[in-house]
Amino acid sequence: MNFVTVLRCVSCKKEFDPRNIVYSCDRCGERLDVIYDYEAMKRKINKSEFGHRHSCSTLRYSEFLPIFDYGKLVSLGEGGTPLIKCERLGGELGLDNLYAKDETRNPTGVFKDRATVLAITKAQEFGRKIVAIASTGNAAASLSAYAAKAALHCNVFVPESTPLAKVSQSIAYGAKIIQVKGNYDQTYDLAVEACKEFDWYNCNPAANPFRTEGKKTIAYEMCEQSGWKSPDWVIVPVGNGCNLAGIWKGFKEFYDLGFVSEKPRIVGIQPTGSSPIVTAFNQKKDRFEPVSPNTLAGALAIGKPRNFVKAIRSLNESNGLAQSVTDDEILKAQSLLARTEGIFGEPGAAAAVAGMIKVVRQGLISAHDRISCVITGSGLKDPEAPLKLARKPTLIEPSIESMRKLALNDR
Ligand code: F0G
Repeated sequence: MNFVTVLRCVSCKKEFDPRNIVYSCDRCGERLDVIYDYEAMKRKINKSEFGHRHSCSTLRYSEFLPIFDYGKLVSLGEGGTPLIKCERLGGELGLDNLYAKDETRNPTGVFKDRATVLAITKAQEFGRKIVAIASTGNAAASLSAYAAKAALHCNVFVPESTPLAKVSQSIAYGAKIIQVKGNYDQTYDLAVEACKEFDWYNCNPAANPFRTEGKKTIAYEMCEQSGWKSPDWVIVPVGNGCNLAGIWKGFKEFYDLGFVSEKPRIVGIQPTGSSPIVTAFNQKKDRFEPVSPNTLAGALAIGKPRNFVKAIRSLNESNGLAQSVTDDEILKAQSLLARTEGIFGEPGAAAAVAGMIKVVRQGLISAHDRISCVITGSGLKDPEAPLKLARKPTLIEPSIESMRKLALNDR
């Protein structure tokens, strides 16, 4: 069952047929929203039905997604990730109700899989054989995996500085890797141009209007996992702003459909060295100032956010907050999360925890509020990062004497 009606420009509201390939508004150049017939949805779907659904992944929320032909669905079992109560981390910070939505458990280790399932399924529906994306690494690895499953040819564009672990993941899945001598912003522009010139299906975040829809399932799951309640606060690390916008849309839909009786406030977090959305939001500007990214959280090193309008709109609608965090705060938060909860997030993911700590200390969030941090991607994707703060492991001879000496020193 499908309730999509049109694609609508976020700015001038021009409408487009969702059965055609459209990446942006031909009148004003802005991004497109996927619009549904919510009245028809209300008549057909009741939240009590979810108790009988066995699928934990995309199919669980099929009516809320823009999939027209389920015969073309390409899924690796994304989603269904746990919402973990952070007793120890919460205890250290004096918070009663702290949760982590552990997106590192997705098939390729990152929340991007929720978007990729739509990008590749749409490529299949449109009969496209070659897909492409620009990426700071995660979206590339994710697209490569799903393209492999669908037997599509996959071209991924990544900046030169992309961590080897992310590049090697794409290589393993058989994608063609194009490493670009430049940053993500330049890489993105090149990928879009190449898609046009070579007629590849454009799976770039924000350009492909369907990807963001997959992120809504993070919000749906959080509501269900909390007994049909939304958190008070959801903390999201931000690059292009697609994830934040998708999560907010998910909460709004479940609220508008009457499935939950409240909506959360969204907190967007960016690294200080790459925070155009945070700056624009806090200065109440409706345009961003492009920056030259400088952060060790490579996943978020985006100086020209491609989903700016949707991200700012989501922060405004949710009465949200935006906060920047230093690289040092990110590394400390990464270590704290791993040591207290056993969750190893990459720096771009740990930024959510760093930001949450900061807004709590500023007194903007109360100790009793229900707070959910979205831990977007696995620390294994950038394994060098924790070594920047940690002591090097001690190398010893394979003898019990060496071990005794070490134990004595450790006392
Ligand atoms: N967290 C991680 C781990 C990411 O990889 C990204 C984005 C984000 C958060 C931010 O999400 O861009 O929707 O605001 N990674 C993209 C990529 C840019 O290419 O993998 P966003």
